[in-house]
Amino acid sequence: MKRLFLFLLLLSFIIASNVYAQDVFPKKKPTASAGKAIYDKQCGFCHGASGDGKGNAAASLNPKPTDFTDHSQMRLKSPAELYNITRKGKGAMSAFTNMKDEDLWNVIFFTVSFSSTKDMAAKGKEVYFRDCAFCHGKTGAGDGPGGASLPLKPRKFTDLKWMAEQKDGSLYQNMAMGIPTSDIACAAKLKLEERWNVLSYIRAFTYSD
Ligand code: HEC
Ligand code: HEC
Repeated sequence: MKRLFLFLLLLSFIIASNVYAQDVFPKKKPTASAGKAIYDKQCGFCHGASGDGKGNAAASLNPKPTDFTDHSQMRLKSPAELYNITRKGKGAMSAFTNMKDEDLWNVIFFTVSFSSTKDMAAKGKEVYFRDCAFCHGKTGAGDGPGGASLPLKPRKFTDLKWMAEQKDGSLYQNMAMGIPTSDIACAAKLKLEERWNVLSYIRAFTYSD
């Protein structure tokens, strides 16, 4: 009897850990503007209409609602982490348990879009077509002619799952200093600002405006 109990206990742990290990990633490309409609109704009164964390309810909250326009903080979290935090709730923010998966991804990518401006993405596009499309492909699919002869395939930026798991901070770090596993430093020669711009363009392969 005791053994059966231990077995069931173990089984329940395995099942529970599998539930938590479940991958979270957008099943299709999220749309930031669709997320904005939800944001205005359900997030803005804490996080602020312009994403700066200064919504009407913010004054009475501690810790304060996250400022989505502060890229120095936002670059430390991947979209998948932001999704998980919002799904489960944090501090004064209750869990958004019932929001449809697609809606939650749309609103998460609306918060991601605060880290980038049209100007950054436009400048980043120029850099991308000058220095990156040759390998990573015109549409970011990793299928440029330069990659054909390489032993290691250029990263596919249209991979919604992989991209959702990346923090802007680590993508920046890896393209500037070299990917730890391969030592490839794609953007070592770029200026600091050009790197952020091109990153903003690369991120935009994974969601629509
Ligand atoms: C009642 C106010 C409130 C509402 C409504 C609210 N939030 Fe929050 N949110 C907070 C607070 C406060 C924090 C910071 C919690 C902490 O750090 O302890 C937070 C944190 C977050 C974070 C985590 C950021 C990080 O870096 O850890 C995300 C993402 C987020 N909110 C998204 C949303 C989205 C999307 C909505 C709407 C669907 C929303 N929030 C609605 C108050 C709110
Ligand atoms: C000569 C081909 C080539 C060019 C040109 C190139 N890349 Fe790459 N890039 C690669 C390959 C190959 C990988 C995959 C390396 C790996 O998986 O370790 C990669 C990976 C990456 C990654 C993923 C980093 C990570 O964290 O895993 C980023 C971001 C990146 N490149 C950005 C750029 C940018 C920005 C440019 C243009 C400034 C650029 N690449 C130009 C071949 C190239």
